[in-house]
Amino acid sequence: MRIIVLGYKGNIGGPLVAVLENEGHDVVKVSRSSGDFQLDYRDEKAIDAFYKKVGSFDAVITVAGRDGYFGPIESIGNPEFRIGFDRKMMGQFNMVLIGQKYINPGGVFLLTSGFLSNIPNPNSLVLGTVNAAVNAFAKHASTMLQNNIRINVISPGVVVTDKDPALGNARVNSTELAKVYLKALESEITGQTIRAWNINYNGKLYRDLME
Ligand SMILES: NC(=O)c1ccc[n+]([C@@H]2O[C@H](COP(=O)([O-])OP(=O)(O)OC[C@H]3O[C@@H](n4cnc5c(N)ncnc54)[C@H](OP(=O)(O)O)[C@@H]3O)[C@@H](O)[C@H]2O)c1
Repeated sequence: MRIIVLGYKGNIGGPLVAVLENEGHDVVKVSRSSGDFQLDYRDEKAIDAFYKKVGSFDAVITVAGRDGYFGPIESIGNPEFRIGFDRKMMGQFNMVLIGQKYINPGGVFLLTSGFLSNIPNPNSLVLGTVNAAVNAFAKHASTMLQNNIRINVISPGVVVTDKDPALGNARVNSTELAKVYLKALESEITGQTIRAWNINYNGKLYRDLME
C-alpha cells in the first residue's frame, strides 16, 4: 500500500514507519518541517494542496504531536482548548474530510486519540475531551464514507521504548503500538477505537475493540 504518515518522526511515527516499511509498504513521510512533503495540518487549504500533489494513495495515518494542552482546570480557557481543537481535532478531521475526495477506493484512515479519553487525571481536561471527540468522529464518519473507505482510531497509552525501564500502568511499547496500527490497517474493521493500553495486565499489550 502507499501510506501517508503525518508526524512520521515522532515517538509513535518513527517506530511506525519502520514497521510499515519492513512490511513492504511505500510510506510517504510528512510533517510540518521535514519529510517527503511538508504540511501543517492546522491549515485546510494546505491539506487540500498537499492531497492534490501527493499522487495516488491507499491510507492516511495521523500521528502528529504537540497537539493538546495538559494542565489543571483553573488554567483552562479558550486558548488552551483551541490548541487541541485546531490540531488534534480539526487537524485530524480535515485530513479525513478533505482526504476522502482523493484516497483510493477501499482506502483507510487511521487517526490517533489516547487513553485520557477514558482515564481522567488532574491535567487531562483538554486532551481527554478532544480524544473522546476523535473517537466519536470515526464512529460516525465510518457510516458515511463512500467507496468502502474505512476509518479507525488508535488510542495509545503512554508510549515508551525498549530503553525505558518499566512497562507499568497505562504504558505501551512503541514497537508493539506500531503493530496495532498495522493490524488496524490490514483488518476489515471500521468505526472502531482500538485501545492500546497496558493497564494492570502484567506488561502485556491490552488490545480491545471499544463498544
Ligand atoms: N507519546 C505518547 O505517550 C502519547 C500517548 C497517547 C496519545 N498520544 C498521541 O499520539 C499522537 C502522536 O504523539 P507523539 O508523542 O508521537 O508526538 P510527537 O513525537 O510530538 O510528534 C512529533 C511529530 O508531529 C509533527 N507535527 C507536530 N505538529 C504538526 C503540525 N502542526 N502539522 C504537521 N505535523 C506536525 C512533527 O513534525 P515537525 O517536527 O516537522 O514539527 C513530528 O513529525 C498525538 O496525537 C498524541 O496526542 C501520544
